[in-house]
Amino acid sequence: MNVRFSKDGRGEALTVMVLDGGALSPSAAALDERLGGALARAIAAARMTGKPGQAVELLAPQGLDASRLLAIGVGAADKVDGLAVERWAGHAVKRLLTSGVEKLSLFADAVGSVSAADAAAKAGAGARLAAYRFDAYRTKLKPEQKPTLSDIQVVTDAVKAAQTRFENENAVVDGVYLARDLVNEPPNVLHPESFADRLGELAELGVEVKVLGEAEMRKLGMHAMLGVGQGSVRESKLVVMSWKGAGKAAPVCFVGKGVTFDTGGISLKPGPGMDEMKGDMGGAAAVAGALKAVATRKAKANVVGIVGLVENMPDGSAQRPGDIVSTMSGQTIEVLNTDAEGRLVLADVVWYAQEKHKPAAVIDLATLTGAVIVSLGHEHAGLFSNDDDLAAAVTAAAAAEGEPVWRLPMNAGYDKMIDTPNADMKNIAGKPAAGSIVGAQFIKRFIKDGQAWAHIDIAGTAWKPGPYEDPTSPGWATGYGVRLLNRLVADKYEA
Ligand code: BES
Ligand code: MN
Ligand code: ZN
Repeated sequence: MNVRFSKDGRGEALTVMVLDGGALSPSAAALDERLGGALARAIAAARMTGKPGQAVELLAPQGLDASRLLAIGVGAADKVDGLAVERWAGHAVKRLLTSGVEKLSLFADAVGSVSAADAAAKAGAGARLAAYRFDAYRTKLKPEQKPTLSDIQVVTDAVKAAQTRFENENAVVDGVYLARDLVNEPPNVLHPESFADRLGELAELGVEVKVLGEAEMRKLGMHAMLGVGQGSVRESKLVVMSWKGAGKAAPVCFVGKGVTFDTGGISLKPGPGMDEMKGDMGGAAAVAGALKAVATRKAKANVVGIVGLVENMPDGSAQRPGDIVSTMSGQTIEVLNTDAEGRLVLADVVWYAQEKHKPAAVIDLATLTGAVIVSLGHEHAGLFSNDDDLAAAVTAAAAAEGEPVWRLPMNAGYDKMIDTPNADMKNIAGKPAAGSIVGAQFIKRFIKDGQAWAHIDIAGTAWKPGPYEDPTSPGWATGYGVRLLNRLVADKYEA
C-alpha cells in the first residue's frame, strides 16, 4: 500500500475526524461548509458523539468530488495521542479495505497535543497497520474479499515534516509486518531452518546475520537448547543479528524464544488448541521485527538480536522427563517437564548473549507460560527484571507504543522453588503456583551478577483470540514487542 502526504485531499473516499460531543475537526468543518452543513446534520441525526471508532458515512456527497465522506470519532481532544490517531486511520482502512475503494484521503488535522506532522505520520502508520493481511494461502478469495484499497493520501499542512516522521514510523510498521508474518506462518513452512533462512534477508538492510547449527552449539555446550530440538527432524539454529549504528558502545541485546512448534514433547500437550503453538516463536519474531525496524531507520545504536530456533517434538530420540542436561553456563538442569522448554532454550541463549556480546542490557521476549494469561489475559505482557531503571524504561516504552507490560515480583523464595536434589535446578516447580514468576526465576539463574536484564512473557499478547476488534491489529498475530523494543532503543540507547 502506498502512503503519500499532500496539502489537499483527493480520492474516492475522504475521511475526517470528529471529536468529543460531535465537534468537527477544522478539515471536517471546511468540507461541511461545501456541503451546506450536511455532515453536521448527519452527525447529529446519527447521535454521533465522537467516541473513538464511531462512524458516519455520507455516500455520493453532493458538491464534493468523492464517492464518500467518512467521519470517524477520534475521542476527546485532551485525551487524543498518537495511538488514537493511528486507530482513527485504522478504522477508516478497516471499513474501506475491501469496499471497492482504491484511493483514500485521510484529513489528519493537528488534534489535542498531537502536532500536524505527528498526526499525519501516525495516520499513515495506522493505515498500514490496519491494512495487514495474511492471505498468501487463500487461493479462492472472491473478488469482494480481496483488498481494493491501494493508495492512502494523508492530507496535512506539514507535508515535509510529516514525510520525515513517517519514514521512521514506516520502518517500524515494516518490522511489525515481519513479526506478524512469522507468527502467522504455519509450522510446516516455518521451522528452524526456514526461519533462519528468512532472517538472512535482513543482511540487505546492513544487519550482520550469523547462523549457528547444532554442531557449533554442541561445541559451545548448549545442551539445554539442543535437548529441546533433539526429537525434531529439523536442525535447531541459533541466529545472531547485529546492527551496528553507534561505533564501539556496548550493545543492547534482545533475545527471543523461537520454538517454531511446541507440542510439549514427551510431556505432550492436549490436542485441542495445539495448533496455536505455531506462534510459540513470537519472541523470536518480535526480535527479528525490531532488528528490521532499527536497521531500516538506521538507528544510531548498537543492537544485537539473538534467537534460539527449535521445534519441540515427541519422538524416539526426544528428551524424556527426568533427563539431566548441562548448559553453556556449566550449570545442570533436571528436565522434569519437556513442555517447559522455552526456559531451556533461553538458558543457553541468554548465556551466549552475555559471553559473546558483553551487553549493556539483555532483554528477552518469550511466549513462556500459560500462567501469564491467567494473571494478565491478553492486555498486558508480564515484565520481570533485576534492574529498576531498565524496568522503568521498558514500562514507559511499552505504554507509549500501546504494547503495555505489567511488572511482577521476583525473590529468593520463588527461586527456591526450582531447587532439586538431583541437579543444580529443575525446569518446573512441580506445583501450580506463580508459574510465570518461576519461569522468570529460572532464566535469572543464567544472568550474570551485575548484568541488567528484563524478561517479557508475551504468551498472552503475541497473538490474540478473535474477534479482532483492534483496528490496527486486524488478525491473529499482533507483532507485539517490535514497537516496544524499537522505542526502547530510540529512548534509551540511541545517541
Ligand atoms: N509455549 C508454552 C506457553 C504458552 C501457553 C504460550 C499458552 C502461549 C499460550 C510453554 O512452552 C509451556 O508449555 N509452558 C508450560 C509450563 C509448565 C509446564 C511449567 C505451561 O504454561 O503450561
Ligand atoms: Mn511448552
Ligand atoms: Zn513453549
